[in-house]
Amino acid sequence: MRILALESSCDETAAAVVEDGRTVLSNVVASQVEEHRLYGGVVPEIASRRHCEAVCGVTREALAQAGMALHDVDALAVTAAPGLIGALLVGVSYMKGLALAAKKPLVPVHHLRSHIAANYITFPDLEPPFLCLVVSGGHSHIIEVKSWTDLHVIGRTRDDAAGEAFDKAARAMGMPYPGGVEMDRVAETGNDKAFSLPRPSVDGAPYDFSFSGLKTAVINLLHNAAQRGETVHIPDLAASYRRAVVECLTRSFLLAARDTGAKTLVIAGGVSANRLLRRELEAACKERELRFCRPDLSLCGDNAAMVGSQAYFEYQAGSRATMALNARASMDIAASF
Ligand code: KG4
Ligand code: ZN
Repeated sequence: MRILALESSCDETAAAVVEDGRTVLSNVVASQVEEHRLYGGVVPEIASRRHCEAVCGVTREALAQAGMALHDVDALAVTAAPGLIGALLVGVSYMKGLALAAKKPLVPVHHLRSHIAANYITFPDLEPPFLCLVVSGGHSHIIEVKSWTDLHVIGRTRDDAAGEAFDKAARAMGMPYPGGVEMDRVAETGNDKAFSLPRPSVDGAPYDFSFSGLKTAVINLLHNAAQRGETVHIPDLAASYRRAVVECLTRSFLLAARDTGAKTLVIAGGVSANRLLRRELEAACKERELRFCRPDLSLCGDNAAMVGSQAYFEYQAGSRATMALNARASMDIAASF
């Protein structure tokens, strides 16, 4: 079964054709990041406008690269929640129109479910159940993936998402948006023991995260140094901060893995590209004789191939959108459309 999928939840307009949830026939991503960088973060109004401009071309290109016309695909899929509401609405409206015109079924997809599905492409034999750490710019969740469409959040951030924590601290260190990517690169050359930073935890909720105190500690450190006229060695600070964030993530995730008896650990979302996170979990899983899966680097950030993958399993489970489908800025990962 071939699915034409569209993603427009944040600052990437992306379209892809995916076969049977596992094989990517085309994967086109038009990123707006250069424009948002001017403002130090995503400007929602600009994002919506750029999606409007890009959506037709990106969809046509995905079909062309797959060597197909619209009538060759069996179904359409679109990210319908969560995300920037204006950005989501562009994709949802466009795909509703296309589904109506082409008389094809339309499958609505939850953005975080699709991030997890990036692993179904990278590991064609991966099947639920498994435990997943989803870490993106807007979310940090520990999720029990019981089946393709039965997912249960057992831990979440109480304040900033991991990607947000990286981006905000990176901005304070003078790095361009999205700072998480740059901080990861710079941190490779620094000493991660140079600065002693906290490892915040949430009382009584061992699977939850809290990053705002850690982020504030770094911002205060930089302000104090500036006031004293001292220079901070940024690679050392970046390395120490990255180590602190990654230790908070892995501590809760490994604890949840032990308590739930999970045999397979999976990571997903933009932050799953983080080099240290990948190395640490790879090593921890090897030591505990657990299977570790992470998306291919090309599938960690927002893309439509992952949407086409999850849509296949949602379709098998009977999910279909009507023309009443609406985009939602927030939505529980366990809920159905
Ligand atoms: O999943 P994603 O592409 O978009 C959302 O759904 O939010 O995640 C984007 C986030 C940004 O905060 C970005 O800084 C972060 O992922 N990110 C990274 C790395 N690559 C992307 N954070 C840390 N290390 C990386 N290598
Ligand atoms: Zn995302």
